[in-house]
Amino acid sequence: MIDVQNITKRYGHHTAIEDVTFSVAKGEVLAFLGPNGAGKTTTMRILTCFMPPTEGTARVAGFDCVEAPMEVKRRIGYLPETPPVYHELTVTEYLTFVGRLRGMSGSSLTSALDRSLEQLQLGSVRHRLIANLSRGYRQRVGLAQALLHDPPVLILDEPTVGLDPQQIIEIRGLIKNLAGSHSIILSTHILPEATAVCQRVVIINGGRIVAEDTPEQLSARLRQSEKISITIKTPPSDCEERLRAIPGVMNVFPGQDPGHFVVECTLGYDLRDELARLIVSQEWGLLELKTVSMTLEDVFLRLTRHEEGMSQPQEATSGILSAPEPSAREATP
Ligand SMILES: Nc1ncnc2c1ncn2[C@@H]1O[C@H](COP(=O)(O)OP(=O)(O)O)[C@@H](O)[C@H]1O
Ligand SMILES: [Mg+2]
Repeated sequence: MIDVQNITKRYGHHTAIEDVTFSVAKGEVLAFLGPNGAGKTTTMRILTCFMPPTEGTARVAGFDCVEAPMEVKRRIGYLPETPPVYHELTVTEYLTFVGRLRGMSGSSLTSALDRSLEQLQLGSVRHRLIANLSRGYRQRVGLAQALLHDPPVLILDEPTVGLDPQQIIEIRGLIKNLAGSHSIILSTHILPEATAVCQRVVIINGGRIVAEDTPEQLSARLRQSEKISITIKTPPSDCEERLRAIPGVMNVFPGQDPGHFVVECTLGYDLRDELARLIVSQEWGLLELKTVSMTLEDVFLRLTRHEEGMSQPQEATSGILSAPEPSAREATP
């Protein structure tokens, strides 16, 4: 449904994306995961015919984004980073305006309006001014705008940024409901978002695709070590040293709580038995022992650090890959 081949975009001497290739099948939800400045918005703006690529081709439903932009735009619903809503209009007035821009009128516009209000559960606020809505509701109005003409393709640029946890759950639920009947690209710099709603993840960093796979396959492909989390009741002062002395142990990190350690083992070594035996025989008090699977965030950090020439992966501490930077203003489509 979406086919991007070797696109590069340069802003003057600055290359925003380079040689980006990917595709999205019918009904598939693809996550575009990358830190701020990775090139996610640039790629989406090319797909929505907002600007042409410097090199390469982008096609939607078989139509070229440069040669047949009207055909592409008819088939796309686009939610930019900042929802393109008018604060001085009510929800119904705004969606009616968008529908007219889309060439709809009369009963087809009324039924499209009712359908999208229902789909986004906006019925109760339909006569409210957009200025008086919460961010979560404004985001829903933005999504209703993208869905109004029932397009087969949806392009959603960081749809949950700035929402509170409850609103994030709601928006993710809505996106999940649209999967299957729509081909969706969703950009995000938050890892759990990619794993929560998408079947496939493209990881982009510094304008280049660094990995593409299912969330599960990505972590399997890149796993280089096994981690075991242990909690010990009365660890001796040389505990870390003693654990590290077990053959196959690469590293031992103290955890957040007293007595908690994360033991990193060489891939292929399952040292749970050895660890348990040492702790029990020394009567340190084994409270917990379990393997820790690698999260996609570890994978991302490993991939991007690798790109930057750093060999040591770092411990992931939060769900956010990098601090947000002030984003450029979005244009209204
Ligand atoms: N209009 C522009 N002019 C010059 N550089 C730009 C412009 N828009 C984006 N960039 C640069 O291109 C790179 C990719 O930006 P963007 O696509 O917005 O990334 P993302 O959406 O992943 O945060 C960044 O380095 C950004 O500063
Ligand atoms: Mg962006």
